[in-house]
Amino acid sequence: MAESMKGMHRSHRCTEVTKEMIGNQVTLMGWVQKARNKGGIVFVDLRDRSGIMQLIFENGSIDEAGFERAGKLRSEFVIAVTGVVEVRSGAVNENLKTGEIEIRVNTLRVLSEAETPPFPIEENSKTREELRLKYRYLDLRRPDLQRNLIMRSKVATLVRQFMANEGFLEIETPTLCKSTPEGARDYLVPSRVHPGCFYALPQSPQLFKQLLMCSGYDRYIQIARCYRDEDLRADRQPEFTQIDMELSFVDVDDVIDVNERLLAFLFKEVLDVEVQLPIQRMTWKEAMNRFGSDKPDLRFGMELVDISEVVKNCEFVVFKNALEAGGSVRGINAKGQGGMPRKKIDKLVEFVKGYGAKGLAYVAIQEDGTVKSSFGKFMKEEEMNALIKAMDGQNGDLLLFAADKTKLVWDVLGALRLELAEQMNLLDKNEYRFVWITEFPLLEWSEEEGRFTAMHHPFTMPMEEDLEFLDSDPGRVRAKAYDIVLNGNEIGGGSVRIHQDHIQEKMFEVLGFTKERAHEQFGFLLDAFKYGVPPHAGLAYGLDRLVMLMAKQDSIRDVIAFPKVKDASCLMTEAPERVEEKQLQELGIEIAAEEE
Ligand code: AMO
Ligand code: AMP
Repeated sequence: MAESMKGMHRSHRCTEVTKEMIGNQVTLMGWVQKARNKGGIVFVDLRDRSGIMQLIFENGSIDEAGFERAGKLRSEFVIAVTGVVEVRSGAVNENLKTGEIEIRVNTLRVLSEAETPPFPIEENSKTREELRLKYRYLDLRRPDLQRNLIMRSKVATLVRQFMANEGFLEIETPTLCKSTPEGARDYLVPSRVHPGCFYALPQSPQLFKQLLMCSGYDRYIQIARCYRDEDLRADRQPEFTQIDMELSFVDVDDVIDVNERLLAFLFKEVLDVEVQLPIQRMTWKEAMNRFGSDKPDLRFGMELVDISEVVKNCEFVVFKNALEAGGSVRGINAKGQGGMPRKKIDKLVEFVKGYGAKGLAYVAIQEDGTVKSSFGKFMKEEEMNALIKAMDGQNGDLLLFAADKTKLVWDVLGALRLELAEQMNLLDKNEYRFVWITEFPLLEWSEEEGRFTAMHHPFTMPMEEDLEFLDSDPGRVRAKAYDIVLNGNEIGGGSVRIHQDHIQEKMFEVLGFTKERAHEQFGFLLDAFKYGVPPHAGLAYGLDRLVMLMAKQDSIRDVIAFPKVKDASCLMTEAPERVEEKQLQELGIEIAAEEE
């Protein structure tokens, strides 16, 4: 039977009790992790969010009825106990913070009984994730998840503290917004009062934070929920949290400066890790050329090498055709992998095909210096030697090549480089390598839409020295945009914004917006800019991604209390769900007949 805790007051959390308190009486409350009944004596591991404390119930120290109830305790019962702190009667448990002590209980209340949970509440659970997510409230009792969420809370608190000290104001922006179809797909919310009209949930507070700069708030911060209807991956959720900021009267270096100090502060306070400042900067072009990625993982080398010049006269059609079509041939050197079995190389070929490659050419240099190659027969000996030299190939190395349009070659080798690093065990989770990626292209050509789209968003300022190309060669214009990358993850990004009318107009023109359409969508912002707008810039972190890396987790689901799964559903609440006909009617919505 469930009892009340009336008259009892929790004095400590489990691990707040220390051996300095031996002889004192304490009152603890929590869940039974494990109960062992040894005849005249019952041992219970009591768990709360701080950790575990061993309780001992012995006939005599506690009254008869209490002792009897202790004998019936089972895992996940919620109990309250009062008792005296003692030196552990058995062996010291080195694994526990409280391993040298125990509580001799004199009062026990069973606050709530529990059915056997569908999976054990334990660290490093082997239970499949679907089941854990269905019973997320139980999953969240596990110490690893509790640590993650406690760390997340700490990060959020420290961010607020640091930013407040730097003069940032925390201001909330709406989550029922106007749909602006640049970027990802919107989540829409139907309006009852305006039938046929919809709000959009914000993909980010971008426009509002720029308006706040127009209103003179100077430095804004918000820990903001954002919504994007995109395909989910381990580092993407349909709703996620940004640490979002905007600053007035600043340029790139000012934003970078405050953010470097913020990162250094967080890593020191949370992990006791020193971040070396200034953080390295790399242009987008350099990142693509050296690592095939705009979010390079710098914890290991294996850099891309452009061998187009070296192979330009060889007879291998794969290379020849790619070069003739204006593409390039690039390679990476997987050091010490020259002995990789053919089967495993074939798997790498399959892997790169997943990224759109037509194949993967290789040169495997054996320990004795002989060479096995998928295209050796098309190469003269001196050509092969030159190639190996260009790749710094040593005995025992595996050289892998992709030939295609350069953008595809970058993607393919960038992904292959990471895959190999994983296989070769080159990734150390205890190492934190930050890098700023700068000078992104302003625009991206969209084959689908047959026009340029903004790589970041339409309000991103072009680099002054490239302004002259906005008309003649928009593709080569670089932006005052920057991403902060940690261990191959884009943890944040931002830009300097356009604050001059004529540049914004030009930008809309290049993006293929008519004046009318630009006004329809962003009129309020363009109008606001007419009444006095300061130069401004900002940045947003993905809080989930940042905490995922700090907590050394592989998925952002592990740092979000109630995450969604791949198809954007919640396994626990079963959202999204059909709604009642009446609700739809009120909204003036009819569901089109579904296909069988
Ligand atoms: P951006 O679109 O780069 O910039 O987003 C900022 C950061 O948010 C994180 N992020 C995500 N995290 C989890 N799930 C997602 N689906 C997801 N999408 C993005 C990433 C990313 O770096 N308004 C601009 C910022 C600015 O210019 O100030 C913006 O939203 O870590
Ligand atoms: P094939 O002549 O198609 O048998 O290809 C010979 C070798 O070149 C094989 O190892 C293929 O995997 C590889 N290959 C094919 N297309 C490409 C490409 N675009 N880039 C690099 N290697 C390729």
